[in-house]
Amino acid sequence: MKDNHDDLSWDEWDELNDPRPEENDFERVVASAMSRRNFLSGLVVMGSGAAAMGTGLLSTTSAQAASTRFGFTPIPIQTDFSVHVPEGYSWQVLVRWGDPLFSDGPEFDHATGGTAASTERAFGENTDGMELFNIGGKEVIAVNHEYANLKTNFPNNEDGKPTSAEDVLKTQNLQGIAVFEIAEGDGGWSVVKDSPFNRRITHNTPMTIAGPAAGHDLLKTAADPDGTTVLGTMNNCGAGKTPWGTYLTCEENFNGYFGSTDEAVELPADFTRYGINTESRYDYEKFDPRYDLSQNPNEPYRFGYVVEIDPADASSTPVKRTALGRFKHENAACTVAANGQVVVYMGDDERGEFLYKYVSNGVYSPGSDTSELLNDGQLYAAQFHDDGLGEWLALTEEATGMSKAEICVLTRLAASKVGATTMDRPEWVAVNPMAAEAYCCLTNNKNRAVKPNAGGDPTPVNGPNPRAENNYGQIVRWYPADDDHTANVFKWDLYVMAGNPTVHEDAYAGSANVKEGNLFNSPDGMMFDSAGLVWIQTDGNDGNEGDFVGMGNNQMLVGDPVTGQIERFMTGPNGSEVTGITWSSDRRTVFAGIQHPGGSFPDGEGLPRSSIVAIKRDDNAVIG
Ligand code: FEO
Ligand code: CA
Ligand code: CA
Ligand code: CA
Repeated sequence: MKDNHDDLSWDEWDELNDPRPEENDFERVVASAMSRRNFLSGLVVMGSGAAAMGTGLLSTTSAQAASTRFGFTPIPIQTDFSVHVPEGYSWQVLVRWGDPLFSDGPEFDHATGGTAASTERAFGENTDGMELFNIGGKEVIAVNHEYANLKTNFPNNEDGKPTSAEDVLKTQNLQGIAVFEIAEGDGGWSVVKDSPFNRRITHNTPMTIAGPAAGHDLLKTAADPDGTTVLGTMNNCGAGKTPWGTYLTCEENFNGYFGSTDEAVELPADFTRYGINTESRYDYEKFDPRYDLSQNPNEPYRFGYVVEIDPADASSTPVKRTALGRFKHENAACTVAANGQVVVYMGDDERGEFLYKYVSNGVYSPGSDTSELLNDGQLYAAQFHDDGLGEWLALTEEATGMSKAEICVLTRLAASKVGATTMDRPEWVAVNPMAAEAYCCLTNNKNRAVKPNAGGDPTPVNGPNPRAENNYGQIVRWYPADDDHTANVFKWDLYVMAGNPTVHEDAYAGSANVKEGNLFNSPDGMMFDSAGLVWIQTDGNDGNEGDFVGMGNNQMLVGDPVTGQIERFMTGPNGSEVTGITWSSDRRTVFAGIQHPGGSFPDGEGLPRSSIVAIKRDDNAVIG
């Protein structure tokens, strides 16, 4: 009766299964259509006169042609099932789905995809956001395992569907987080098995709930009548790193894990905004009552947060930081303002949802107590104006009519109340270490100017989201007032609008820094290197035809914030997205994640295995 649609990406699955709001506001739709026409006619002009539009779209400058800061020769697109890097660079696999992190774990079994027990001791599925920590001279990676691909993970189950509690436990153990030590030897980089840092965190790992929502009635369950402890973290997508050396993992599409064995169960109205309904993706509710909404209706309020993990202590208890809000968290980009306040930028990856900022009340100084910095602070949502200015709207009790705890649990509703700008799916945010500016990948939004978000907020084309039915994506950049990330006002522009000038002549051709040699769509992962270049990873259409012809497989590009130049550095295997990036402490290796590869990547036969690859220059020079 129910189809798991396991061949779909998580986003495609979510789109199919989320309740879609009715287009019930005729005036809204008309207004959207009008502004779309007006804006598009403006955009055609924009190529030669961005400043006049007031949107500040980056234009090509003479500096772009004059020099390059890139230490590589850009590579062409690919459509095969391998990884490609520039001439003079090499790549190797660091770790694959199912590789044991402990010597008592069995080697991966292509025939079965592993057991619940083996999976709990191994590198998980669908590698995503990651950070590298140097702890006492040891190189330690913390990395997310976003979701499961059941048909791949259960090659012997019909359609990959879990048929037992054991199958559900294996699915749960495939996901979560892995922390492990790595070392570089004669054969390159490898995992240090049995390192005291090695750890798997899954859907069943005990965690603490902290911040304003801890103990609120909505978070209380029969198993946790205090609303302060929870098992597990799920759909861990992007990540972040605090200045005090902890890992932030971000719970994204948590809604899809909950279902109901009683389809007639009545669900709270706010579930609609978050896409929580009686249909689940993995049928957990049939075997694990915690995920059955008819038995545990409050369990979903305990997910959708940023979780802090101490990678230096494998016995530490992860902490859910409710002060950073509850939504489909993509990543958490931290920076410290000049006065010491901690600023965390966060995207909510759903069509027409918002961009957020958290500012701590306390200040950070090295060695000080950091335990309250992510509990006590102010959450804001971004409002972009079409004139190139914007402001952060504080989600306060006065502005929203909600309690502080409610703001932290029903954050989307709070941001709608203050009039935040609906965005084209905010994915990763990255903060430039060399300049007071931050970037957010707005990956794509087929619903722009088509229908409102799940809360009924209209989504007309607007300043940073200038194209209806946007299937290419763009990167918005903002400059806080006085170079201070705690400031409530900012200027913004678009760093790049992806597009295809070989197919389109209008706004869908992309911005001036898009050309035949660097075509891409759907920017998603993003990180700055120590030189201030921005590395961009894509998660888009890799069919290489129609609107996407000439773009090939998903890829990793490098951008220069100053000149706007963007060049292709790596291509991933067909079927995959490239997501997750970090560097070795000596910056001579860049690690990149390959999620949901097709073919038999990387083994050449058998099941495809999501992997982290390590890329080096053949002369072992610094690459970022
Ligand atoms: Fe998990 Fe929005 O990517
Ligand atoms: Ca993904
Ligand atoms: Ca992503
Ligand atoms: Ca994505």
